[in-house]
Amino acid sequence: MTALDQFAAQKLRDLEARQLRRRLIDSTRTDGIHVLRNGRRLVSFSCNDYLNLSHHPKVKAAAAAALERYGTGAGASRLVTGNHPLFAELESRLAQIKGTEAACVFGSGYLANAGIIPALIDRDDLVLLDELSHACLWAGARLARANVLAFRHNDVAHAAALLAEFRAQHANAMIATDGVFSMDGDLAPLPALAALAARTDAWLIVDDAHGLGVVGDGRGSRFAHGDVPDVPLQMGTLSKAAGGYGGYLCASRAVIDLIQNRARSFIYSTGLPPATVAAATAALDIIASDRDLVAKPLRNARRFTAAAGLPEAQSAIVPVVLGTADRALAASRHLEDEGFLVVAIRPPTVPDGTARLRVAFTAGHAEGEIDRLAALIRERVLA
Ligand SMILES: Cc1ncc(COP(=O)(O)O)c(C=O)c1O
Repeated sequence: MTALDQFAAQKLRDLEARQLRRRLIDSTRTDGIHVLRNGRRLVSFSCNDYLNLSHHPKVKAAAAAALERYGTGAGASRLVTGNHPLFAELESRLAQIKGTEAACVFGSGYLANAGIIPALIDRDDLVLLDELSHACLWAGARLARANVLAFRHNDVAHAAALLAEFRAQHANAMIATDGVFSMDGDLAPLPALAALAARTDAWLIVDDAHGLGVVGDGRGSRFAHGDVPDVPLQMGTLSKAAGGYGGYLCASRAVIDLIQNRARSFIYSTGLPPATVAAATAALDIIASDRDLVAKPLRNARRFTAAAGLPEAQSAIVPVVLGTADRALAASRHLEDEGFLVVAIRPPTVPDGTARLRVAFTAGHAEGEIDRLAALIRERVLA
């Protein structure tokens, strides 16, 4: 064994000892709801394909047509020769849904945040993040080499106190939060955060990965609060409710033009494949026009929380916090024996001591399956 292999093996043993080692498991998704794993067909409550659009006939047909016409890859960065004609259509749909002047599509949601934040913020600046913000918001903030501070989850008063103490020492400031929290399913208090940002001359960025297609009539978290707050930077991903892949930022024309000139993950990474872009446009058409479909994931999540005796769901994501990694893994195994895929989420994805089942609802889940899962969780996991 080389020293490098020994290093890797030791790190893996450490993870194993703490029940935190992860492994890839072959998972064949057949229809947006079911998953074949270890020779069994399970009902998945772990996919973020909230509208089951990854298998929608119109979305697949759009991808197939684009593949046939434009080939498999973009061929280069969008700023070189990779800007095939399908991007403009996708970006105008995104801007329309989010109510902004313009939009910019990235390779993924992670790449979007890793590019957007350092393009706008540098080492003289301040970034305030909700402590439960997604890993890629943290990555973007750290790449910017800014002064990065966390405020307590959804605690606007704490964010205000930090700004009162530190804002004056920094040229620019950003407040960053998930719109729908990926592991907790709750919503950020966007009206209050937007008001705070306006008062303190800070720029608010909202990661709407889990809001698009699910809350605010499918338009996302900015539209989920009676009053539409002023959110100048709405980023998100096309990999959840849109059923495909890719990230985006919706913002003013000036900001988007700057991002296309400065975001390194946009400039130095190949454009998304044509089929992926065409699929996303077809998915957004469905999201924008099918009100009944976009209402279903939240309706299903609420059916579950009522039946399981949990606080009412605010999004398609419901956490069942169990504490130790051991307990979460055992619960997940038990549900798998019963035919359900509900993956255990462990640190560092969630804070220590809060390992959980993360139950994700889609439009296509059958009511009978939701009720059966709720009964199992109430009677066997939480009892
Ligand atoms: C809140 C949030 N932001 C960003 C991402 C990253 O998006 P992508 O999968 O497109 O990289 C995810 C999940 O993957 C997420 O949950």
